[in-house]
Amino acid sequence: MQVLIRANYEEMSKEAARYVSSEMRKKVKFVLGLATGSTPLGLYKELIRMHKEEGLDFENVTTFNLDEYYGLSPTHEQSYSYFMWENLFKHVNIKKENVHIPDGMAKDVEKFCEEYEHMIKEAGGIDLQVLGIGSDGHIAFNEPLSSLGSRTRLKTLTQQTIEDNARFFENKDEVPRYAITMGVGTVFEAHKCILLASSHSKADVIAKAIEGPVAAYITASAMQLHRDTIVVLDEGAAAELKRKDYYRYVDKMVKEFNK
Ligand code: PGA
Repeated sequence: MQVLIRANYEEMSKEAARYVSSEMRKKVKFVLGLATGSTPLGLYKELIRMHKEEGLDFENVTTFNLDEYYGLSPTHEQSYSYFMWENLFKHVNIKKENVHIPDGMAKDVEKFCEEYEHMIKEAGGIDLQVLGIGSDGHIAFNEPLSSLGSRTRLKTLTQQTIEDNARFFENKDEVPRYAITMGVGTVFEAHKCILLASSHSKADVIAKAIEGPVAAYITASAMQLHRDTIVVLDEGAAAELKRKDYYRYVDKMVKEFNK
């Protein structure tokens, strides 16, 4: 796990976009795992700019989103499907048939989840997965005590997550109580992952996820065992890390080595 600390949200987003775009350019058919929430918005903005100004091509990119609220249709303004089309897909040359987002209206949830896993496998697995982290330590909607081997399934959201996400809805009561989410085990099979976190509100949970024990009560801590994960933080999110100086030193040494 490499930890990169950048001055602010904008620099964090640009660093993430550099990494995502350089991975995308390495392969003709690229499978990109995507996340929602406020954190990756800057990354998506930068990818759109790269598409428009630098020819970043989405023609052969297939995407899989981590999760979707259960009970929201894709046309609902708070659905993650709506979010992705508004904030990324409609601005780039991605093919509609290459976009995959869990179906929040699935009638047979179990069957849908099996199919979603199957589609990821059929696509050859996820080359790079973008991740955020919830204030309760979740990656995707893998709430505390989710099995670290879990697969795509229906999850009950914690009160913490409902409160965190209430800002996007008229009121707290409108926040769905369930979501369909990739499991920790599903995320774990991505070849590479990039986890983003911004602002002081994430500092405590980032310290737990990166420097604490690997434990199901902070599902993001499972990424410590992943073979190729990069974490990009702004100063606020990095504030509680004990070994910040070491991470900065490694960052500098890696750059020097690659010169
Ligand atoms: P946020 O959400 O980016 O809006 O903070 C992150 C998450 O819940 O995974």
